[in-house]
Amino acid sequence: MSDHDKKFFDNFLLIIGVMVFVTLMLFLLAQSMSEDTQEQWTKQDPAFKAATEARLKPAGYAVKTGDAEPVAAAAVAAVEVEQAPRSGADVFNEACAACHVAGVAGAPRLGDTAAWTDRIAKGRDTLVEHAIKGFAGSAGYMPAKGGRMDLSDADTAAAVEYMMEKGQ
Ligand code: HEC
Repeated sequence: MSDHDKKFFDNFLLIIGVMVFVTLMLFLLAQSMSEDTQEQWTKQDPAFKAATEARLKPAGYAVKTGDAEPVAAAAVAAVEVEQAPRSGADVFNEACAACHVAGVAGAPRLGDTAAWTDRIAKGRDTLVEHAIKGFAGSAGYMPAKGGRMDLSDADTAAAVEYMMEKGQ
């Protein structure tokens, strides 16, 4: 390598080195700026936070028999979607029949007047509330909305009314 080439090569490496350094500095500068801007204005934004929380929310929860009041009633309300109301019989067949026809796990059977008299005496509103929020009684555990969190409150109430009618 001639002296001239060596000098060129040294300068060339130096310039490349300086350029890499400048790139790194710009990168770090951009990062520290985004911490004050992006983080503050995007991630702290209540709408952004709410959306993140909604995405992280558990899809369900477990409750043991004997728990007084199943948790996550608020979560249940939030999951609710607008739907056209359906008939109580339809909702019952779709979401409640699995337990309430055969009497699975102590569920009062549809049309079993003996099993329903005392329950009907609690009043329609109490039964609807128990069906929507879940209910742990002496017979067993009634999961909120029969485990069908996609049911609207109105549909669940219609199913309860249908069950009360058949239980009289
Ligand atoms: C996984 C089984 C299961 C499913 C599904 C189910 N239930 Fe129940 N349900 C029960 C059990 C068990 C009880 C009895 C709880 C007790 O009194 O100890 C019960 C009790 C009830 C009661 C009486 C509550 C009270 O206060 O006496 C109503 C009303 C009721 N269910 C409505 C519904 C409706 C409406 C659906 C469908 C949306 C449904 N259930 C789906 C198991 C179920």
